[in-house]
Amino acid sequence: MDQYVTGSVIRTLRERQGMTQAELAERVRVSDKAVSKWETGRGFPDVSLLEPLGQALHVSVPELLCGQAVVNGNRASNMLKSCFHVCPVCGNVLFSRGEAVISCCGIRLPALEAEEPDPLHEADVKSVEDEFFVTLNHPMDKSHFLPFMAYMTGDRCEIRALYPEGSAGSRFFWRGSGWLYVFCNQHGLFRQKILRPADRRRQ
Ligand SMILES: [Fe+2]
Repeated sequence: MDQYVTGSVIRTLRERQGMTQAELAERVRVSDKAVSKWETGRGFPDVSLLEPLGQALHVSVPELLCGQAVVNGNRASNMLKSCFHVCPVCGNVLFSRGEAVISCCGIRLPALEAEEPDPLHEADVKSVEDEFFVTLNHPMDKSHFLPFMAYMTGDRCEIRALYPEGSAGSRFFWRGSGWLYVFCNQHGLFRQKILRPADRRRQ
């Protein structure tokens, strides 16, 4: 846990629910003095109260701890608005189709911001009939490598795990034009647009 719930977060979330301190106190089964103490920074809720406090304020415990309610605005579930989250401790890769609070190994994982690739992280994409081959001229040793790449279209995300000492590339079946994501363990996430030859001809 890298931070603890603060009084201003409790107050903001309580007011957003249109609740008085006494009403919140009743739901969490503490005195209204206790709620007042938390909100004015003269005390903190016991860790055993985080779950009921989150329930009363309609947020998850991670949201309570990070200080904001996270509402996913991508209700249409457009895959192209998806996010990747990578745990720096264990290397876990998590995928969400919109905003979410995601944690692993006890730390919160923000959504990675994908950048335009520099020459080292730019993939060469060669189309051969109904497939395309992706290759990068990037190191693949234990300290600097590409843990995964992903091919994203409007309705599908295909994630390919890559390994140190393996090849810095992969092949995919064309499902349409979309985005290629490449994640480097030292330099972060990159994405480049890829156009299916049939779509390219139409342009
Ligand atoms: Fe790199």
